[in-house]
Amino acid sequence: MLRYALLITLLSGAHAAVPPLMPMPAKVEPGTGRLAIDGGFSAAVSGVIDQRLDSAVRRVTARISRQTGVPMMPGTTPTLRVECSARGAQNPTLGEDESYQLDVSSDGARIQAPTVAGALHGLETFSQLIVPGAEGFEAPAVHIEDRPRFQWRGLMLDVGRHWLPIEIVERNLDAMAAVKLNVFHWHLSEDQGFRVESKLYPKLHQMGSDGLYFTQDEVRRVVAYARDRGIRVVPEFDIPGHTTSWLAGYPELGSAPGPFQIGRTWGVYENALDPTREETYQFLDRFLGEMAPLFPDPFFHIGGDEVVGKQWNANTKIQAFAKQHNLKDAHALQTYFNQRVQTILKKHGKIMIGWDEILQPDLPQGTVVQSWRGGESLAKAVAQGYRGILSSGYYLDHLQPAAAHYAVDPLGGAAANLDSEQAARILGAEACMWGEYVDWETVDSRIWPRAVAFAERLWSPREVNDVESMYTRMAAVSRWIEWTGVRHRANYAPMIDRLAGGNPAEPVRVLADAVEGLGLSGRKRPGFKYTSQTPLNRMADAARPESEVVHAMQLAAARRSPEDAARLTEQFNRWAANDARFQAMAEGNVLLVELKPLSKDLAALGQTGLKALEYLSTGQRPPAEWLAAEQKEIARMQRPAVEVNLAATRPVKLLLDELAKPGR
Ligand code: ACM
Repeated sequence: MLRYALLITLLSGAHAAVPPLMPMPAKVEPGTGRLAIDGGFSAAVSGVIDQRLDSAVRRVTARISRQTGVPMMPGTTPTLRVECSARGAQNPTLGEDESYQLDVSSDGARIQAPTVAGALHGLETFSQLIVPGAEGFEAPAVHIEDRPRFQWRGLMLDVGRHWLPIEIVERNLDAMAAVKLNVFHWHLSEDQGFRVESKLYPKLHQMGSDGLYFTQDEVRRVVAYARDRGIRVVPEFDIPGHTTSWLAGYPELGSAPGPFQIGRTWGVYENALDPTREETYQFLDRFLGEMAPLFPDPFFHIGGDEVVGKQWNANTKIQAFAKQHNLKDAHALQTYFNQRVQTILKKHGKIMIGWDEILQPDLPQGTVVQSWRGGESLAKAVAQGYRGILSSGYYLDHLQPAAAHYAVDPLGGAAANLDSEQAARILGAEACMWGEYVDWETVDSRIWPRAVAFAERLWSPREVNDVESMYTRMAAVSRWIEWTGVRHRANYAPMIDRLAGGNPAEPVRVLADAVEGLGLSGRKRPGFKYTSQTPLNRMADAARPESEVVHAMQLAAARRSPEDAARLTEQFNRWAANDARFQAMAEGNVLLVELKPLSKDLAALGQTGLKALEYLSTGQRPPAEWLAAEQKEIARMQRPAVEVNLAATRPVKLLLDELAKPGR
């Protein structure tokens, strides 16, 4: 604990010996001196001949060129030597050795790794070290020994609800690799879309996807792309619920008469496959047999979440079957279904994984349980001998602050009381990006940078848990990962420009910087129902999940040094002055007009902040009525409006709370 506190102070200090690294390596020893990174930079591999490693070296070299802006004309002596003892498994494999050691000195850098998996991680850490120094770009001297805490570090991406094309999948794989995430859980079918080409059952993608699906060649391309970056791909075909898009083409699989159409709205659907017909299993056997070879990873996700028993209960044939087989309710029917599916998957060489609803008596041993409804199911699953991964607490689509995810530990909560054998069955965790309120333009900003905090929780030693150090490093790494190609920051400006409608966008940006988009449960508009066709082009979509501007102001409001007070004053003045310009441009602009009251509130917060700073700096006591009235206003402004939070309330409230302290 103390060791990390000291180290973090060292790393995040104004004259940091080592730039902000994330996830924090297991051991970092800053050295003296620095390695120049100039146009002659080159890297050489020794020990193994491996296509993944060779292309990773080329890729990282090209990225270093982009991140520094320095054209690379590799010299003859390698700057970075990558020594890899063995190739390791050809496909990334659960539990493989991912460790590496990285040494940087003024003479050169060296990565040593037992396998390619570790070498890939070492390359990412190396490129994170590069910063502009007094004489050019450089990497500081350092000795790093690193290995992951958990072996399953995943990101789940839902491409069912909103279609996300291959470019977006690939750039997110690059960002995942950059922060050492190693499982891409690809949620490929939903009520709203079936996203993979099936040659055996072509009506799945033809009638279930609006023409928006991955061809099998594209699936192979993504799997190879992920493999090259040390990432396993676990596909999910969610059954027996969440299957409306399957039923569009194959209504005979359903438990109700149909016909069925692709879902267009959000929420839980009643449609489910009929678990009592042999034809259902013949279909699944052929379909899963077709999909299995596309995905080399042994784990295969069958969903299993949110099955509503309603159609099963209402269907007399299904009920007769249940009675005959002594299946007392919908849970028992689903367990029967899972047992049949598990047998099919096993035949095709796969290990079944499903959401925690599948944890019922008689769930086949060997199954992996993914806990999303709470940590209790994870503890229960591993206590019963299953392996488990945690997603409860890691739902990125709720747009919670990074700190909220950072505080959740797979071995915390209900898992804290497990014995070591049980705890060892907790393989790791996955962050989940569900697709109701994201599209090609916004998905990156709903994943990054918050998933970086998640990645650190999964990779780094448990004692790495200082929240402010995390935020400081995440801010830097958020910028760095854009060199991989993700556009969480880059897409912000054009979205603000769109809102501004061709006007200078500054007043919109000032407002956008002061608010935060709301997640799944906050996306409500009175008298309006979201569908998959609703444009995601409003402030709620442009605004980030977490405001960096406001976070910095909160720190300043808590510290209140003279520099902090000056910065707060500057920002409060900006807010106060923004409204007049905003109101003028909002008139007649459908995207801005709804934000007029919010802009007024921001201006009022600016005024209140200035007044509060004045009271604090003069030591004057504010009138009690003023304080009470302002607190009341803040409480009103803290209630979400137009699907955003007015984050700007937080630093102002800190100042008012300080003024309200007794004895002031
Ligand atoms: C889920 O969020 N329904 C797994």
